[in-house]
Amino acid sequence: MENLKIPHHIGIIMDGNGRWAESRGKKRTYGHKHGSDNVDRIASYAFERGIKVVSLYAFSTENWQRPKEEVDELMRLLSVYFKRFLSKFVKNKIKVKIMGDVSALTPKLQKEIGDILEKTKDFDGGVLCLGINYGGRQEIVNAVNSLIKNDQPVTVENISNNLYTAELGEPDLIIRTGGEYRLSNFMLFQGAYSELYFTDVLWPDFDENELEKAIESFSGRTRRVGKVL
Ligand code: IPE
Ligand code: IPE
Ligand code: MG
Repeated sequence: MENLKIPHHIGIIMDGNGRWAESRGKKRTYGHKHGSDNVDRIASYAFERGIKVVSLYAFSTENWQRPKEEVDELMRLLSVYFKRFLSKFVKNKIKVKIMGDVSALTPKLQKEIGDILEKTKDFDGGVLCLGINYGGRQEIVNAVNSLIKNDQPVTVENISNNLYTAELGEPDLIIRTGGEYRLSNFMLFQGAYSELYFTDVLWPDFDENELEKAIESFSGRTRRVGKVL
């Protein structure tokens, strides 16, 4: 455990809440409740292990297509989450960032998000970046459009600088729980050279030990980035 190479930035596609609940004979929303409780446990452990940036996929641009009851519950849980953890973020000096188009959220949620961004903006104890109404394709399209609008050349560097994660850089490791082997529109540009880790463990069951396994796997990888090493 001591000599592991620790990623600077990890991204997590937190998948499997619905199946976790259904396997217990409960409604999908029950799984989302447990899934949201798990965010704090895993983010805290990640920071404890020396990871500096944790980017979490909470709600995709495609997730609006779910039943209204489920979407409403996910939005409600986000609001509860921000309230519940505000004091913790402040205490641990965690800076909160958002990736995604928040203009589609309710004014109340937008206000809560604005408050938390403001209160944590100067913190340097780690960054928790939450993907809410986030889609990697839309993010790239928006970045390119903004370059065109400002008469700037469309280059890899300029696109990077116009993504939501401009100051956060690229994830070294992307973890997906829940047994699916796909990115589902998560960090498409930033993930070009991320190491990928897939596990069948459903998000509410993904505990500290599971994160440790992902770090161990990352630590054993050789990142060539196209070179011969
Ligand atoms: C959580 O898991 C991901 C979110 C969109 C919040 P899911 O709700 O996709 O759970 P499964 O994949 O249906 O089990
Ligand atoms: C990806 O999970 C989105 C989040 C984890 C927020 P989904 O469950 O929405 O992805 P698909 O439908 O399996 O691709
Ligand atoms: Mg899913």
